[in-house]
Amino acid sequence: MTKIKLTKTTFDLIARDKKIMFTTTREHYPFVAAKGSGDYAWDVEGNKFLDFSSFISVYNFGVNGSAAVRKAAKDQIDKLMHAAFLDYHAELPVRFAENLLTMFPKGFGRVFLSNSGTEANEDAIKLARLFTKRSYLVGFTNAFHGRSLGSLGLTATKLVHREHYGPFPNTIHSLYPNFYRDQFHASDPDEHALACIDHLEKVIMAKEYSPKEIAAIFVEPIQGEGGYIVPPRIFMKELRRIADENNIILVSDEVQAGYMRTGKFLAMDNFGVTADIYTMAKAIGGGLPMGATIAKRSFGDTPSGSHAGTFGGNLVAVAAASATLDYIKKNKTGIESMVKRKNRIMMKRLNELRDNYEIVGDVRGLGMMLAIELVKDKRTKEHAIEERTKIVEDSFYNGLLLLPAGTSAIRIIPPITISEKALEEGFDILEGSVKKVNAEKVER
Ligand SMILES: Cc1ncc(COP(=O)(O)O)c(C=O)c1O
Repeated sequence: MTKIKLTKTTFDLIARDKKIMFTTTREHYPFVAAKGSGDYAWDVEGNKFLDFSSFISVYNFGVNGSAAVRKAAKDQIDKLMHAAFLDYHAELPVRFAENLLTMFPKGFGRVFLSNSGTEANEDAIKLARLFTKRSYLVGFTNAFHGRSLGSLGLTATKLVHREHYGPFPNTIHSLYPNFYRDQFHASDPDEHALACIDHLEKVIMAKEYSPKEIAAIFVEPIQGEGGYIVPPRIFMKELRRIADENNIILVSDEVQAGYMRTGKFLAMDNFGVTADIYTMAKAIGGGLPMGATIAKRSFGDTPSGSHAGTFGGNLVAVAAASATLDYIKKNKTGIESMVKRKNRIMMKRLNELRDNYEIVGDVRGLGMMLAIELVKDKRTKEHAIEERTKIVEDSFYNGLLLLPAGTSAIRIIPPITISEKALEEGFDILEGSVKKVNAEKVER
């Protein structure tokens, strides 16, 4: 276990940043990134960190991507970086989109390329409205779909995201199941999820908003920023049914959960449901900015000029994305079994944390998209927010990069390619921090 040492170099850089950059979400710990490779990242002082964050779910296949991804991007830089792909034509983005569509169920045939997750969702919002000529959008409590004004309307994770930014486009928030914090006193997760569905159908759609005016339902197969919450299969099946019965478009936001993170290319496949539109970003660009909106062929086309942008389909991003996709296609079965194997190792360690420490209330997730939720008391389940911060910080000073999620959860999302040895080392650090903070709590 390496003890991290920070000097004036780090704090001076952070002071310069704070003086002129708008504050975003960098309140966690003083990490100033310098380089990365495989399972590790280094800061400007040469401190080495094990990465359990994938830099917010981007480096699914190793920090700074593979040599093949870097080479593809470098080679493309020497040829042509920007081709104004949404105005002119270029072959590489078309080939990438053709390749991407082979990963989707039959019937998917339209792709729009953009630069981020929020843009991918904006595109889906516009497509759903254009196609249905309806205006309302259903999102869920605790959802995160981005921070531009359309997707922010669907986002409902934290007040600070939304405060003073409205009004938003016509968005409605329906209940997302979270059996750990069940408000219905249901006997099992399915009953809980069905109560959420009942509220959507029997209250929202029966008394407040006509289904005839609802264009789309936007759902994260697993809520990411909201705290890594996994709904039961029946929830997605019911959303599919409601969408079908009312000609509503079902959109699966795969930005955080997709791209093999759960062991499947599409996280929605874990629920045996096919959406009408999928949105992707983060890991798709292999470290470069990219978003993609993938729709069924039956949507037809959009009128020229109705939706575009300057940088969508940027050739360097597409080159990196193509190399990432090639890797996935060549190794899909291997990646699937790797995620299963590592999930077993990770769940064993997480279950031990829950069994041994009072502050670990819940452990959850799918594949290698896992989290722990910290509580002050296992019975009352009061969120342990300060304790979460302490654990994340203590782990940082012991050389482990972690990110919070939701009100008091910590996400555990190392690169899928992490070595099993490094995985165990990371859990040793995490457990050390949990143990320390748990003991402080007991002493108080
Ligand atoms: C599920 C989901 N959708 C959309 C977004 C927004 O993506 P971006 O930050 O690239 O705009 C995120 C980002 O965390 C996300 O987790």
